[in-house]
Amino acid sequence: MRFNVSASGFSGATGRGGVLAAPLIKEKGQSAHSTEIDRRSGGQLTALRAVGEGSATRFHFSSSPAGTLPADQLLFAGLGSAESLDRQAIVRWAAAVTRKLAGRNIRRLVIDAAPIVAALKGASPALRANGGASFGEGINASSKVKLDAAVLAVELIVRGVIEGSFHEGLDGKSQVDAFPAPLESVEILLPTGSDLTAAKAAVRRSEIIADGTVRTKRWANRPANEMPPLGIAEEARDRARAVGLRARIIGARELERMGAGMLMAVGRGSENPPCMVVLSGGAPRAKDPLGRRLAMVGKGVCFDTGGISIKPADGMEEMKMDKNGAIAVLEAAATVAQLDPGRVIHAVAACVENMPSGHATRPGDVVTALNGKRVEITNTDAEGRLILGDALHFAERDLGATHLIDVATLTGIVYSAFGGEVAGSCGTDPAFLDEAHLAARRAGEVLWPYPLADAYMKNMDTWSADMQNSGTREASLIRSGLFLREFTTVPWVHLDIAGTAYRRSTAPWAGRGSTGSAHPTLVELAMGGGVRR
Ligand code: BES
Ligand code: ZN
Ligand code: MN
Repeated sequence: MRFNVSASGFSGATGRGGVLAAPLIKEKGQSAHSTEIDRRSGGQLTALRAVGEGSATRFHFSSSPAGTLPADQLLFAGLGSAESLDRQAIVRWAAAVTRKLAGRNIRRLVIDAAPIVAALKGASPALRANGGASFGEGINASSKVKLDAAVLAVELIVRGVIEGSFHEGLDGKSQVDAFPAPLESVEILLPTGSDLTAAKAAVRRSEIIADGTVRTKRWANRPANEMPPLGIAEEARDRARAVGLRARIIGARELERMGAGMLMAVGRGSENPPCMVVLSGGAPRAKDPLGRRLAMVGKGVCFDTGGISIKPADGMEEMKMDKNGAIAVLEAAATVAQLDPGRVIHAVAACVENMPSGHATRPGDVVTALNGKRVEITNTDAEGRLILGDALHFAERDLGATHLIDVATLTGIVYSAFGGEVAGSCGTDPAFLDEAHLAARRAGEVLWPYPLADAYMKNMDTWSADMQNSGTREASLIRSGLFLREFTTVPWVHLDIAGTAYRRSTAPWAGRGSTGSAHPTLVELAMGGGVRR
């Protein structure tokens, strides 16, 4: 699939045939642009509207012949009202357009970006600023750059088209109902006068980011029989070699010797040994352009049975998704290495399989964490915080991380609270937490914070160790964060993606399975608003 951008409206189109996707935005009256489409298509928009089609409601589609417009067919695709637009909506619109073509033999897609550029031009400063308004607007000086609307439109459309071309079933099924359209060229038509050089650079960057998100989805979808802890390590080693990162695989024996007692305790029950995967870019003790040594730490539970505190059978098959955090951080490091070769970045994936067996950790067992704290494991199903505690401390102590972000499918309760669209966040440093929220806004992902209220520390008290890993139901989401905090001393942010990492049903913009959650946000955070330079 080749992307081509031009900056002379409909006359910028170069190929023949295929489909022209035209976004419809809810507007009072009809814009000159819609009038032109209607005229050049021979009144198709008017005709569609006469029978109740041609709706501008988001994800509503209608098609017609293209008339003298530069394609065979027109696909009208509703984008909603201009006021409701955000970056995620544009990515999803482009993904939905692409998915709409599945099952058809279409090789050329032309996207009329003019209405999107116009909407972005008129949009709130927060939408176009390389940051956001919801938390600490303006705190990050490096993210105050106001983006060119055409460049932003290109970036979001390219991401959407690439993500929309990924069909999750293809890796697993021998028969699929609808193959993605075999798109060879995607032409993005910008309004006359747009900055073409900047737009072309945006295509290249966006292709790299979207490729990483799609790889995250595909990799995280692999079942536990194909992707045990050492399978993640092997795959990560290949990725590192391909993108120029250093890879270090810390095996079970070394973890034991090192004293990673919490990670080892979770891994004990399985025949597949645990490991820690470390991908690093840049010189070992150097810092990134923002003066940070950022380590992204991910939960890589290849399968979570719950261990001896075993989960109910219903839906347990979904627990192969419990490695999404690990895959997201590994792919984010790979993406950063391609966007900015040599940039200082670390990814640490704690990989393990949580199984019950004669060797498994029992509720009530007490172990010593890598940082020396003694932890009573009262619930073996609260395993994520155990492996992450050791990995966070490792990143700080051995990699010298100055900033930590961990990503994990940590709690079922975050799904009850925030659902499938909003990831939970917490952290110890308000400025760094703001940075993470701004990064999410730039990336088109949604985070919402919850408080690390010290009052609930007492719910982890136990007479037999410094603390326990579970406790009563009270504030269990907050407690999952409080537990992790015990293993960090530098600015740290935690993202709980248990709700957002995985889709059980299809949407217009995505199929089932892994969503690639957190990958785009991590890339933005690591690049510190410098993705566009
Ligand atoms: N991996 C699960 C969390 C999860 C649940 C992810 C549902 C995705 C969907 C995690 O290891 C877990 O089991 N958490 C427990 C914690 C509890 C024992 C304190 C939970 O949420 O019930
Ligand atoms: Zn888990
Ligand atoms: Mn669990």
